[in-house]
Amino acid sequence: MTEIPVIRETGSCLQDCCFLLITMKIVTVVGARPQFIKAAAVSRVLRAVPGVQEILLHTGQHYDANMSAVFFKELSIPEPDVNLGAGSGTHAVQTARMLEGIEAVLLEEKPDKVMVYGDTNSTLAGALAAVKLHLPLAHVEAGLRSFNRAMPEEINRVVTDRVADVLFAPTHTAVANLKTEGLEAVTHFTGDVMYDSVLFYLDQVSQHASRYALGGLPDHFLLATIHRAENTDEPGNLNRILEAFASSGRTIVWPVHPRTRKTLTDSLKLPSNVNAIDPVGYLQMLWLTMNCDKVLTDSGGLQKESYFLGKPCITIRTETEWLETLHDGWNTVTGTDTDRILEAISSTYPSAARHDAFGDGQAAGKITRILTS
Ligand code: UD1
Ligand code: UDP
Repeated sequence: MTEIPVIRETGSCLQDCCFLLITMKIVTVVGARPQFIKAAAVSRVLRAVPGVQEILLHTGQHYDANMSAVFFKELSIPEPDVNLGAGSGTHAVQTARMLEGIEAVLLEEKPDKVMVYGDTNSTLAGALAAVKLHLPLAHVEAGLRSFNRAMPEEINRVVTDRVADVLFAPTHTAVANLKTEGLEAVTHFTGDVMYDSVLFYLDQVSQHASRYALGGLPDHFLLATIHRAENTDEPGNLNRILEAFASSGRTIVWPVHPRTRKTLTDSLKLPSNVNAIDPVGYLQMLWLTMNCDKVLTDSGGLQKESYFLGKPCITIRTETEWLETLHDGWNTVTGTDTDRILEAISSTYPSAARHDAFGDGQAAGKITRILTS
């Protein structure tokens, strides 16, 4: 694979580069919380390239202020040019609404390229709408595989990677997965854009800690997030997770995803050692991760952020796509068995330093360079 030179995130380096005269319109499709964070990193660099116009299309998959607007404000993401307001629904209903809306925007805008992120229904809808109109499609965070077809995200990733024209892989495991599927020719290893984001905001959070700190916490606490369908839609699984949280005897801070909040309100009671709060903004989430002892999660993004910030992670799923985080005991995959979660809380201690498996924090520059050259 060709080695891609690093481009710094400042505008000056980009402006000196040879693609000064390119005129290119790119439609970026986002819709869910993690995509705002990923797109923020790339948009910042992409929009600094003279001649590039980015049209930001928000599908409206996430719409609560603390699931959407807060990220646009905090991360200085430009207002979306279009918000389809697709909202919630079954997979088919939600995806169909998005497909219809995205197609109309693409027909009107006639972009040179379309870019999608990750593995949500917004990703799938953006990918299908683009390829059916024969528009070149780029996929950021390509090649992730859980090999678990019961996960909606796995279907979304596999389909998106198969139809995309250029694949930006965050890890060498992702590159290997794409190679196995015969997609090596269109694959580029770029590193992870979420690593770019953490590095970009780390100083701000450290320097203004009092602005982002959550009050009333003891010195030692665990940070939890749970939102995967297999954990929230199956009451037995959520019950076993709550039993583990209760039996840990530790203070657990848990910003609760709206999907999970619905289930908790319906039937399940929270243990008294769990501090369940509304979803927080990205910068407060970074503060919480930097200051907790360990992370308990089923989130893809948070597994990585724990690793980037040097916090041991317990992944409450049956597998992880982020195999690099497992090395040297930084991450333990437990499933939902109460005893296994408890055991992992007390025994997850890394045995060696972390590796730079997620690139050099310049993924957005590499992606921009490939997209615009
Ligand atoms: C989606 C993605 C998942 C990603 C997660 C990030 C799919 C299939 N899943 O899951 O891969 O990890 O986003 O957070 O695309 N809801 C609200 N307010 C909102 C958004 C959602 O109340 O702003 C509630 C609704 O009841 C909705 C439920 O959450 O039905 C689930 O939302 P949805 O976007 O379908 O899936 P997520 O679980 O958020
Ligand atoms: N996150 C956040 N506030 C929260 C919970 C999570 O800003 O209350 C951030 C988290 O730090 C990470 C991203 O959201 O950057 C992960 O999103 P999520 O867990 O919803 O989705 P996944 O990564 O599993 O697809």
